[in-house]
Amino acid sequence: MVKAVVLGAAGGIGQPLALLLKANPLVTELGLYDIVNTPGVAADLSHIATPAKVQGFLPPDDGLKKVLTGADIVVIPAGVPRKPGMTRDDLFKINAGIVKGLATGIATTAPKAFVLVISNPVNSTVPIVAETFKKHGVFDPKRLFGVTTLDVVRASTFVSEIIGDLSLAPKVVVPVVGGHSGVTIVPLLSQSSHPLPSSLSEDSHAALVHRIQFGGDEVVKAKDGAGSATLSMAYAGAEFAAKVIRAIQGEKGIVAPSYVSLESDAEGAAALTKELGQELAYFSSNVELGVDGVAKLHPLGKLTEGEQALVKAAIPELVKNIETGVKFVADSYKATL
Ligand SMILES: NC(=O)c1ccc[n+]([C@@H]2O[C@H](COP(=O)([O-])OP(=O)(O)OC[C@H]3O[C@@H](n4cnc5c(N)ncnc54)[C@H](O)[C@@H]3O)[C@@H](O)[C@H]2O)c1
Repeated sequence: MVKAVVLGAAGGIGQPLALLLKANPLVTELGLYDIVNTPGVAADLSHIATPAKVQGFLPPDDGLKKVLTGADIVVIPAGVPRKPGMTRDDLFKINAGIVKGLATGIATTAPKAFVLVISNPVNSTVPIVAETFKKHGVFDPKRLFGVTTLDVVRASTFVSEIIGDLSLAPKVVVPVVGGHSGVTIVPLLSQSSHPLPSSLSEDSHAALVHRIQFGGDEVVKAKDGAGSATLSMAYAGAEFAAKVIRAIQGEKGIVAPSYVSLESDAEGAAALTKELGQELAYFSSNVELGVDGVAKLHPLGKLTEGEQALVKAAIPELVKNIETGVKFVADSYKATL
C-alpha cells in the first residue's frame, strides 16, 4: 500500500505528474493538493482504471493536513515557474515561502514521508525543507530528495541524438552530478553507458555539456512566456518517484542521481568530500536507494580533466545556493520571534 501525494497538483507539472502516478500500479492512494482546481483534477483522474484511489484537497477545511495524513511519498511541484527574463533569485523570492509552508505541513502531519522536491531553485529549496524539518525536530536526511532527474533524462536524450539513434534514449545512462541549475549541473559524459562517437569534436562536446546544463532555457524560450518545462519534468518526476517507491518496497540495487544532504550517509559523504576537496552540505551524486531512502552515496569515480573543471566551477555556486536556503529559514523564524 503506497499513498503518494502531489503538492501543487493542479499546475503544469502537477497535472501530468499526477496522471503518471495514477498510472503507476504500485500507487494505491493518490492525494492531490493545490490552492486551486484539485477537485476537478482528482475527479478526472479518478475515472482511470488503475488501483489508486484519488482525492483532491484545497486549503480550506485543513486540506493540507487531510491530504498529508498517511502519506508515504510527497512530491512537491508547487510554486511559480521561470518566465523569460526572470532570474533564479526572482524565482527564489516567490517559491521559498511556498516550499517552507508546505514543508511545515509535512513536518507536522507526515514527518516520516519521503519528500521529493521539484520546486525551483532546487539547490535552495531542498535546504529550506531540511531546515524547516530541523526546526520541528523531524529531519531525516535519508528521506529528502531534490529531483534532478530531468537533467539525467535530457542527458540520455541528447547523447542518443548525437549517437544518431533515438531508440537508445531509454537505455543511455549518464550520471549527472552537482546541483540543479546552470553551471551546477555536471554531466559525467565520460561515464555514459553508451560512449560518444570518437569523432565528436571538442566544440560539439562542449555544446552538448552546455545543452544539458541549460536545456531548461530552450523550453522557457520556446514556450515564450507560458512557463518552463512541465511535461518532460512530470515524466522525470514520475520516473524518480517510481524508483523511490520500488526501493521502499524492498527492491535492491536501484541507483539514481539526486540532490541530497550529505548527512544521509556519513561514509559515502566522506569519500565524496575527499573527491570534491571541500565539505558541502548538499550535493547530487548517484544515490543507492533502499527501504529507508538513501542507502548509500556513491563517489563520483574517475573524471576527465574537463569534468573536474566543471565540478570545480559548480562548487562556489552550490555553496551560495545552499546558504540562501538555510538563511531564508533562519531569517523567517527570527522574524516570528
Ligand atoms: N526540478 C526541475 O527539474 C524542474 C523543472 C521544471 C520546473 N520546475 C519547477 O516546478 C515548479 C512548478 O512549475 P509549473 O510549471 O508546474 O508551474 P505552474 O504555475 O504551472 O504550477 C504550479 C502550481 O503550484 C500551485 N501552488 C502555488 N502555491 C501553492 C501552495 N502554497 N500550495 C500548493 N500549491 C501551490 C499553483 O496553484 C499551481 O497550480 C516551479 O518552481 C518550477 O520552476 C522544476
